[in-house]
This record gives sequence, C-alpha cells and structure tokens, in this order.
Amino acid sequence: MKGKQGSIWSKAKLFSKVLGNFMKDPKRGMAILKGLGDSMQGYKNSETWNLNPATFQSSAPVNGNLDKTSNPLQAYFDANTTGRGIWKWLHYFDIYHEHFKKFIGQEVHIVEIGVFSGGSLRMWKNYFGDKCHIYGVDIEKDCKVYEEDNVKIIIGDQSDRKFWQQFKKDFPVIDIVIDDGSHYSDHQIITLEELLPHMRSGGVFVCEDVHKHLNRFNFYVNGLSLNLHTFDEQPNGEIKSTSFQSAISSIHLYPYVTVINKSPHVVEKFSTERHGTEWRPYQQV
Ligand SMILES: C[S@@+](CC[C@H](N)C(=O)[O-])C[C@H]1O[C@@H](n2cnc3c(N)ncnc32)[C@H](O)[C@@H]1O
Repeated sequence: MKGKQGSIWSKAKLFSKVLGNFMKDPKRGMAILKGLGDSMQGYKNSETWNLNPATFQSSAPVNGNLDKTSNPLQAYFDANTTGRGIWKWLHYFDIYHEHFKKFIGQEVHIVEIGVFSGGSLRMWKNYFGDKCHIYGVDIEKDCKVYEEDNVKIIIGDQSDRKFWQQFKKDFPVIDIVIDDGSHYSDHQIITLEELLPHMRSGGVFVCEDVHKHLNRFNFYVNGLSLNLHTFDEQPNGEIKSTSFQSAISSIHLYPYVTVINKSPHVVEKFSTERHGTEWRPYQQV
C-alpha cells in the first residue's frame, strides 16, 4: 500500500513540475509539446532503423575500433595491466582524445568525479603532462590516499550543491570536467548546473555513463541543446547570439557519453555570407 502511495505521490510531483514549467512560459510550453510529437517520431525511427551493410564503405575508425597506436590514452590503458585500476568503456578513448588533445602539455585544470581505485587520475596526468592540475572528487574518504604531485583529492557528494559552492571557491579555474561518479541522472544534472557555468572558456564537460535512452540527464541535455538553434533576428537584420550560444559552442552525444564544449571566446552574432558571382534566379541575392 505504502509503495502504491509513493508511486502516486511521485507521479503527482512529476505532474506538478511539468505543469509549473509549462505555466512559467505557456507559449514555449506549447512549442515543446508539439516538438514531443517529432521527438517520438525520431525515437521510433531509431528503434526500427534498418541496417544496410552495403552502406559501410569507409575504412575510417569507429567508436571502440580505433587505430590504437595513435591514441595515447588507449595505449596507456592497454599497458595498465597491473597496479591502480582504471575502469572505462573502450569506445570512450576515441572521444576523450578527440576533445582533450588541444590541452596536452598545457596548464590545464581537470576535475574527475569518481576516483575509485585511482588509476584514471594517473592516466590523465600521463596524458596532459607535468603542467596539469588534477582534482579527483569522491564520496569515499579512502580515496584521499591517491593524492600526489599534480593530484588533489576532494571528498564530497556530487549531489550536494553546497559541496560544489565551496569547491568553486577553492578551485576557481577549471577547464575539463569528467563526471564518472554516481551515474544517477539527478546527480549528473546538479553537477552540470554547478560546474558548466563555472568552467573557463574553451573548456570541455564530459558526462559518462548516461545509460539507457529514456534517461533524465539525456532529456535535460536535449532541452539545453534546443537553445543552440535560437534565431534572434534584430531589426537591422543581424542575428544576435544569446548568452547560451555565446558560452556554449557545441553539444555532442555519443553512446553513453555527452560532451559539451565551451566557446573559446564570446560569440556576439552569427553571420552568413555569399561568395561567388554566379547565382540561380530562384532565390534573391
Ligand atoms: C565508476 S567509479 C569511478 C571510476 C574511475 N573514474 C575510473 O575511471 O577508474 C565511481 C566512483 O564514484 C564514486 N561516487 C559514487 N557516488 C558518488 C557521489 N554521490 N559523489 C561523488 N562520488 C561518488 C564512488 O565512490 C566510486 O569511487
């Protein structure tokens, strides 16, 4: 009986959250409701995707099947057969290297949430080099033992906003966040909300283990991404960027991983140009 009441209560809470957000901005709410129809259509399409082997022509590496010799993180992981444990999905190594390589050898400040057996912290240190600063965050006090040169361990709960408030005071400069902590959606959302605005321009935010497709963190990121396409046309015809477009340059979705890139500099407007002299008549120049 108690379980049933709990489930009614959680449904009521969900309904009140949806209604509350809808009432804050009914016009946008209606647009999102309409969009849900298209979202369902896309979802169905992906569920019934017809794999056509004849389209697989390229020899380019794909997730989990990369040229191992060209990725130092993969090489480090493969060689780490004894000592401190590292626990990663294999297809993550391509993704890390793609987004992190610009920081190699730089004075870069990295937060990894989820220290566990300490091996991944050493992997980052080896990859980014002597100038890096690594901050490992974990709820387990024992993880303190992994503190060493370039590596600080901070004990705390990623679902606690107060913990992050203090963390941001203590560590004002952050370039990379790797969330490999509890993997609960609500914790992942809190961590993103607290750290993404705090990170330096050009930074990279990675949330790992976004498991299962109807995942709340995934929906949250889908909501964020809608505003990458805001089209704010000014009376003079200029397309002004919003604060969000100015700060966030891209959002990437991979199996189980979300990557958000912060813009390296403020983007004030978006411009389009036509170059060339030969044009078809059906669209005015
Ligand atoms: C998957 S392991 C991390 C693996 C490690 N990054 C690696 O690559 O080998 C997850 C870690 O998150 C920690 N953790 C779980 N819940 C947490 C929370 N709410 N806040 C901070 N850390 C948490 C656990 O104690 C555990 O050490």
